[in-house]
Amino acid sequence: LSETSSDVIKFLRRLRTVRDFRPEPVSEGALADILEVGRWSGSANNRQPAEIVVVRDPEARQKLVGFGANTAGKAPVALVIVTPGDPARFELEVFDEGLLAERLQLAALAHGLGSGITTLKGEGPAGAKELLGIPAEKRVRCVIAVGARDEAAIQAKPKHPQPRKPIGAFAHWDKY
Ligand SMILES: Cc1cc2nc3c(=O)[nH]c(=O)nc-3n(C[C@H](O)[C@H](O)[C@H](O)COP(=O)(O)O)c2cc1C
Repeated sequence: LSETSSDVIKFLRRLRTVRDFRPEPVSEGALADILEVGRWSGSANNRQPAEIVVVRDPEARQKLVGFGANTAGKAPVALVIVTPGDPARFELEVFDEGLLAERLQLAALAHGLGSGITTLKGEGPAGAKELLGIPAEKRVRCVIAVGARDEAAIQAKPKHPQPRKPIGAFAHWDKY
């Protein structure tokens, strides 16, 4: 591997969930980059079904915590992903949402920011729609918390809280 590709691989490997954030705001430049990367995320048939509500208001973020987005309270920004809610395209909407979620996280990481995927639980999607003025027919599930990492809190936790299965249980060569 060239130095550049090994750097990029290291960068990709570094993407882990961050749940402890410092309260300072995310700069407008970083936020603009994150949203721009998200806007260029690929989607099935290039339908570009996703929209994002950028939630900075602390009270609204605390309400999102109550709806299941557990890390949206500490993070200065919560990115709420909205898709059309077309039952015939449910799988594709979820797939597109997943791609977008990780691209948002990678762009945040490129700015040295932490991020984490969280999901609204139970009645959470309905509550979030009402809170944020999102039409009821839309699909809302995924919230990306973004902010500066709280290093002290992160270091105080076990280093690899979510280990991975061995490569042999993951990759199968030529035949399952
Ligand atoms: C679809 C999906 C939903 C998730 N929902 C939550 C969540 O609600 N709250 C949370 O703290 N983490 C959530 N996560 C983060 C996972 O717990 C995390 O990716 C996994 O434990 C691996 O940890 P790592 O990212 O640090 O490697 C979610 C991840 C995915 C992909």
